[in-house]
Amino acid sequence: MELHYHDYLQLDQILNAQSPESNKQNLAAHDEMLFIIIHQAYELWFKQLHHEVNSIAAIMQKPALNDNSPELQTVVHRLNRTATILRVLVHQVDIMETMTPMDFLDFRDMLRPASGFQSWQFKELEAKLGLKFQHRHGQEYYTSQLRKEHVAVIKKAESEKSLLELVNAWLERMPLAPTLEQRKSSFWNDYRDRYKNSLAEAEKNNLLAFDETFFDQQPTNNARERSLSPLACRAALFIMLYRGYPLLQLPFQLLNAFLEIDEQLSSWRYRHMNMVHRMIGTRIGTGGSSGKDYLKAAADKHYIFTEIAQLNSFLIERRKLPALSKELEKRLGFVAS
Ligand code: HEM
Repeated sequence: MELHYHDYLQLDQILNAQSPESNKQNLAAHDEMLFIIIHQAYELWFKQLHHEVNSIAAIMQKPALNDNSPELQTVVHRLNRTATILRVLVHQVDIMETMTPMDFLDFRDMLRPASGFQSWQFKELEAKLGLKFQHRHGQEYYTSQLRKEHVAVIKKAESEKSLLELVNAWLERMPLAPTLEQRKSSFWNDYRDRYKNSLAEAEKNNLLAFDETFFDQQPTNNARERSLSPLACRAALFIMLYRGYPLLQLPFQLLNAFLEIDEQLSSWRYRHMNMVHRMIGTRIGTGGSSGKDYLKAAADKHYIFTEIAQLNSFLIERRKLPALSKELEKRLGFVAS
């Protein structure tokens, strides 16, 4: 039999998967259909995001992935697609907001205690990107509201190498030694001096942060937990500073894509939080959390790639960058041999 559009997309299943609670109770609630469909659309996109992130992780696991590898292009392409999907997810809040608080009240109580909080795909995605259980806001709430089998899925993702850990390992492998490896190398001494000179009086403490970020191999016990090692941070900063060189262009795009993903995820959290505020004010969520307050705390705490963003505090003006040796320039692809 010829393949038919309807069967290929399994539309029987998808289009029969909307069962408003209000219908079951014979109460009118026109907007419940929109509420169901928008959540289903989100979950489908979450599925696609997992598909992208899994493939990115699989490529980044390969020790042979280097900056000339054609696969790096694939990684960047899929990271950018991930960010684009997230951007669309932020805008889908517009559609949700066409539902007024009174429309929502028509069926809200029928949903209790179901909540978007129980979206295991969303939490699994956060874990795959690099959010660890110990850094989550409301840890008990998280384990008590999810089904056991869903907690297991998320725990598994938490135990595997996240994209954040993989990017750390990849940065550590950057073939830029000895520029990156030697703390006392003339390059870093020189750069540190130039950075120091660029600081305003009120920023002098940044030098301490600079040394900790790029050279502190053994942080003391009370030092903040870090995901990017000093060597990885040096590689990332080097990429940001010298991204004009051909060999560093894709690595730069890769770092940038991670920042874009974090920013879009955060935009989603804030838009969702504001929508919740508009919809239910300060009432508790259907999942039983403090509602807006819970969402605000999670939004503030659940950034994943902050350490990459923070490296931007250590940039200096392009015209003041140390010149690279001819040999290094050649390796980075500018000087003909
Ligand atoms: C009328 C619209 C919505 C309202 C009033 C609402 C409300 C809430 C509230 C109050 C929470 C906190 C947990 C709780 O106590 O329930 C929450 C969490 C959540 N909601 Fe929504 N939500 C809405 C729409 C959506 C949509 C369309 C999605 C898309 C999937 C979504 C996904 C989530 C997720 C993923 C969380 C967990 C966030 C985290 O733990 O950081 N929500 N929602």
